[in-house]
Amino acid sequence: MSKTSWAEPFKIKMVEPLFMSTREQRVKAIEEAGFNTFLLPSEYVYIDLLTDSGTSAMSDRQWAGLMLGDEAYAGSRNYYHLEDAVRKYYGYKYLIPTHQGRGAENILSQILIKPGDIVPGNMYFTTTKLHQELAGGTFVDIIVDEAHDPKSDFPFKGNVDLAKLQRVIDAHGAEKIPYVSIATTVNMAGGQPISLANLKALREMTNKHGIRIIHDMTRVAENAYMIQQLEEGQSGRSVADIVLEICSLTDGATMSAKKDALVNIGGFMATNEWDVFEEARNMVVIYEGLHTYGGLAGRDMEAMAIGIEESVQDDHIRARVGQVFYLGQKLIDMGIPIVRPVGTHGIFLDAKASLPHLPQTAFPAQALAAELYIDSGVRAMERGIVSAGRDKTTGDHCYPELELVRLTIPRRVYTQAHMDVVAESVQRVHERRDSITGLKMTYEPKYLRFFQARFERLPAA
Ligand code: F0G
Repeated sequence: MSKTSWAEPFKIKMVEPLFMSTREQRVKAIEEAGFNTFLLPSEYVYIDLLTDSGTSAMSDRQWAGLMLGDEAYAGSRNYYHLEDAVRKYYGYKYLIPTHQGRGAENILSQILIKPGDIVPGNMYFTTTKLHQELAGGTFVDIIVDEAHDPKSDFPFKGNVDLAKLQRVIDAHGAEKIPYVSIATTVNMAGGQPISLANLKALREMTNKHGIRIIHDMTRVAENAYMIQQLEEGQSGRSVADIVLEICSLTDGATMSAKKDALVNIGGFMATNEWDVFEEARNMVVIYEGLHTYGGLAGRDMEAMAIGIEESVQDDHIRARVGQVFYLGQKLIDMGIPIVRPVGTHGIFLDAKASLPHLPQTAFPAQALAAELYIDSGVRAMERGIVSAGRDKTTGDHCYPELELVRLTIPRRVYTQAHMDVVAESVQRVHERRDSITGLKMTYEPKYLRFFQARFERLPAA
């Protein structure tokens, strides 16, 4: 990767003051939140790295776009702008706006999945998998083994292992597989990209069997940037060009525009198939709203259309991913165990490696995230056994290989100095890691438990 320094291709026009809490206040806040960072009031958070979802800073052009909202119930002009942007930058023919990504996942899963179907994918995502299951499907992980190994430096950990897919096809038959679910980049693996070569090979294989590829394109521009940086023969291409090619290798997509596309709310489903579109257009009115707004205000669709255009600009994406890499390199230099290589939307601390004295059933990543918050007011999130939920058939926890704490970087929001403060706090907590005790779950919701589960500290062993 290039050795020249990068700087943000923007300057700051408006600031939002942050509340500087005391350690005492934070101890009280995390206890009241049941040691779950999702349950903290954001007022008590200093640097919020819970998620990059809906937390990005919009540009002046996007804010201006809000004023051009056409709030007609039907046929808003902003819908047509969004449709133009989706066609121009992603190449999909038909668009169904939704309030966010999971709204699109719900509709798509219900249309394409029949009870008993199998949905192979390059690692699960929480909401995506749940909607596949609610529609009667079973998710099967076909990502390369390297993705489950936080120490592997393999550059394209988002790749599909085609032999694994072949085994799924052999075992169940292609007719049981409505689509292969492909995420760019793979969130749960640590923000890891899939290579263009792998996607092309996957396309060839699925074409042979008549199986669709559905694209979770939530962070597609970040994936395209990694292809540009790392894949042979791709360095001369623009990110926008690579994004278009990625999309062209798939049949349809779900999008949480709250990430790549730089908006605070919004998403969509897109497809190249008329029949699927027709059904989705019909279903969206049940769950989201009319097909020309899908649960969004006109102004939200305008901001999204502009955000899509900004998100595929090389200068933007270089600085966005560059900031994540800056923090990642700092932590690597400090000797902190993190998922390698550094992903594009955040740093994933390896809680299993840092807290080997805690069994996975004592929720090491959940405990580590709470300690980090207490230390400095930096809010991270658990991506381990709590996020993985329970096995659909046995009812036991799923035990993922990866037990991680995610420090997710919002786009265009924090400075390099914030990243320095984060790194120092992670280091302080790491230095006293032996004193960190595990947790016991005291409340467990049925769906997506990580959002609302509550915990208590276990006594020191
Ligand atoms: N797919 C991926 C890869 C995601 O990261 C998300 C959301 C979704 C789908 C669902 O989209 O939130 O708009 O309904 N990820 C957020 C996160 C919540 O923090 O990683 P949504």
